[in-house]
Amino acid sequence: MSKTKIIAGNWKMNANSNDAMHLVKTIQNQVLNYPTNNTVIVAPPFVYLPLVSNELNNNSSVKIAAQNCSQFNDGAYTGEVSATMLHDLNIPFVIIGHSERRQYFNEADEILLEKINQALNNNLKIIFCCGENLALRESNEYFSFIQNQLENTIFQLDENQIKNIIIAYEPIWAIGTGKTASPEQAQAIHAFIRALLTKAYGTDIAQQIPILYGGSVKPSNAKALLSCNDIDGALVGGASLNASDFIDIIYAI
Ligand code: PGA
Repeated sequence: MSKTKIIAGNWKMNANSNDAMHLVKTIQNQVLNYPTNNTVIVAPPFVYLPLVSNELNNNSSVKIAAQNCSQFNDGAYTGEVSATMLHDLNIPFVIIGHSERRQYFNEADEILLEKINQALNNNLKIIFCCGENLALRESNEYFSFIQNQLENTIFQLDENQIKNIIIAYEPIWAIGTGKTASPEQAQAIHAFIRALLTKAYGTDIAQQIPILYGGSVKPSNAKALLSCNDIDGALVGGASLNASDFIDIIYAI
């Protein structure tokens, strides 16, 4: 079975409206002949979602994601954006559990599970991030740490719900640092996550769930990472803000 491959660009809190338009137009023009089984996702800041989304053709291989959603449905939560609102704007994907949300906005596993449920209740597909920091990597406890992150969150889902999850393994020590996990290091974690999925949901489902790698992915290292058995794509931060670098990564698949 040929698996769906996904290259997702997380713009974080970057770009202005001109940059956003330029990026999405350039990317969309460059992927006209992209293999139909593969998907490109761009995740602009909330305020640019309508702008970017209006630029995308219905049948484009480029899809759009929000970078976050609220754990609440609606109400007096100043500054928050609900999954219902994203659904209302026809946004199909949302990133949940990015390490920057966990670290700077104190999003613990319990909150992330609430966000996951909000997103699923609104028919959104989720890019769910996990990954260890440098201290955990050096202490060799990262396998059990990642297992815990997953068991507290997405492994609470049933067989139908889990099919809406895309996992992104993003070692924090490799995010924005220029240090990338080697293909062997990344593959070892991806295989571990796949084995956990197999144990929890069986082989068929485990094989269908894309596991992306993220952390300083760039044109020079994308091919080696993306050719690993259990790496089904990439979640790209910095390099996704440069159209030509992002396109090189898209075609490294
Ligand atoms: P980076 O970010 O590619 O800039 O390291 C990846 C991410 O945070 O998703």
